[in-house]
This record gives sequence, structure tokens and C-alpha cells, in this order.
Amino acid sequence: MTGNSQTTHDAIDDPRNRDILIYVNGEIVHRDEAKVSVYDSGFMLGDGMWEGLRLYNGQWAFFDEHMDRFFASCKTISLDVGLDRAGILDALNRTAEANGMTTDVHCRLMLTRGVKDKPFQHPGLSRSGPTLVIILEHSKPAEHLSARGIRLATVPQTRGLPLSQDAKLNSHSKLNCVIASLQAEQAGADEALMLDPHGFVNTTNACNFFIVRKGAVWTSTGDYCMNGVTRQKVIDLCRDNGIPVFEKNFTLYEAYGADEAFLTGTFGAQTPVAEIDGKEIGTGDRPVTARIRALYRELIARETKAEDTPALLRNPAPVVTPVN
Ligand SMILES: Cc1ncc(COP(=O)(O)O)c(C=O)c1O
Repeated sequence: MTGNSQTTHDAIDDPRNRDILIYVNGEIVHRDEAKVSVYDSGFMLGDGMWEGLRLYNGQWAFFDEHMDRFFASCKTISLDVGLDRAGILDALNRTAEANGMTTDVHCRLMLTRGVKDKPFQHPGLSRSGPTLVIILEHSKPAEHLSARGIRLATVPQTRGLPLSQDAKLNSHSKLNCVIASLQAEQAGADEALMLDPHGFVNTTNACNFFIVRKGAVWTSTGDYCMNGVTRQKVIDLCRDNGIPVFEKNFTLYEAYGADEAFLTGTFGAQTPVAEIDGKEIGTGDRPVTARIRALYRELIARETKAEDTPALLRNPAPVVTPVN
């Protein structure tokens, strides 16, 4: 890593995260005690699905959208979640309550095919039921991300065809993205800009990618990239607020020449892009990105304060396993 390197998931350091409690298959334990087997399908093969969510004002933002994606991904790989949506919500809320967390929290919800009988690939060897882990961290995106912007490098690693591994599966195996991220780092950038199999600009290794040209917002067609919840919210916000938005193929020619560019993801919402392949994007003035960021903040505030009773208060008390 270069000294200046940053990632789109940089958060303000919060010492409370050293003592968080983690949900492991119904138990809530100190992070030092939170463990899964070396025979776990997730550890051995990356055979599992995950979801990143955020908690604001005692509410999980866009819970239904995240669950739509999560349950669809699990169904696609015949992974029985073992809980319905209410069960997942209860597990999330119990973990938040055990940690005394209500806002500015990032969640990684992970489900694998569980512990295997033998160290081999066949899913039939995973017979003991799934492994469910929930990690919640106090999390505020680092301010330098929005101030400085992210530097992207185009990398040789591309997004694959759904024939090999559909990019819409938020699988534990992120090797395609990890390789892209390494290539970007080796090129001296913060994050990788990935092309699709035809050479059109598609996405980054961890976020969805947007450009702004002459007041219009462009993103890829949605093929070959994660069906990001934030991506869709940004498209909807543009449509509802008279900002022209297009899901279309475009090339590096149009990306390099953009007036603005930004990334979207649950963690960082919208992160401005400062440069691509060493070429500065725009003039540093980012009025459309700023407007979309403001609209998104308002949306989160509306969504998470919508109900009279915070979700956390409607759920049963947590079961906490004390740390020795
Ligand atoms: C490769 C990739 N792209 C984009 C995203 C952003 O998706 P979302 O907006 O739902 O967080 C993610 C998040 O999981 C991702 O893994």
C-alpha cells in the first residue's frame, strides 16, 4: 500500500469496535470469542452469501430491498436461510441492542452453507445447517473520502459473464473483486474501475460507478455488476427530481471526459471520484454529486424516521453470552 492509499470503506476510527459483540448462530459473544469452524463452507470454499446494511435512527435502511437481494441470492444457490425475514430482523435487532447501537452502524450479515463433514467441495457434505454471523460496527465514513475523492485505476480483471459467476450473487467468494483491487493498488490507485467483457465501463471492485456529463447522470446498463441497493436509490432519486439519468453502455472515452464521477454503496452512500488512471475528473466542483448526496441524506432521514416506534424497541431482549 502506498502511504496515501485509501479505500471506499475507510471509517473514522472508533475504539468501541474493539469490544463489539457478534452474533454467531443465535449466540451473541465478544468479538474475540466469535469463531466458526475451519470446516465451514464459507471458510473452505467461499460458499455463502452476505449483505451489507446500515442502521440509522434505530432502523435498518432499505431492509426490504436488502432482503429481496439476499433471499434471491440464497435461493439461486439452494442455500436454505433457515429463518424468514422477521427472523433475520430479530437477529439484527438483538445484536444491535446487545451492543447498545442505534445509529451510524454498519452491518455485515453473512450466511454460509455451514460446517462440512469432510474438506471437499460437494454441497452435500454440508449437512449441519447454515452458519449465520452478524458483525455490527460503529461506523462513520471517513471525511477525507468526500473531501479528497477516490482515485480509480482501470484494471485488466474484468466483470464476468453470468455464465461463470453472476455478479449479482453477493457471494463470500469475492476473488474476482479482490484481484481487481490488488491490481488497482499496484497501479497506485485506491479502487479498481472494471470493464465488462465488451470493454464498456461497468463498476468498481466494491461499489457501483456513475458519471455526470452535461448535467445528466450515466451508469452502466446494470449487466455484469452488483444490483446495488444504493445504485437503484440514486437512479430513483434522479428520476423523481428531474435529473436526467441513463443506464447505458459507455467507454473510458466518456468516463475520462466526465464533468463528475461518483461511486455508490451502502457504506459510503455516494463517494466522489477525483481521478481515473491519473486523469483528473472534472474541475473539482461537483454540483450534481452534491445534489444527489443531499437528496440521499434526506431519503435516509425520511425512511428511518418514518415509524413512530424504532424497530429496535419492538423486538425482544437479547441473549448475551458474557466474555470471561
Ligand atoms: C461489487 C459490489 N458492487 C456494489 C456494491 C454496492 O451495493 P449496495 O449499494 O447494495 O451496498 C457492493 C456491495 O455489496 C458490491 O459488493
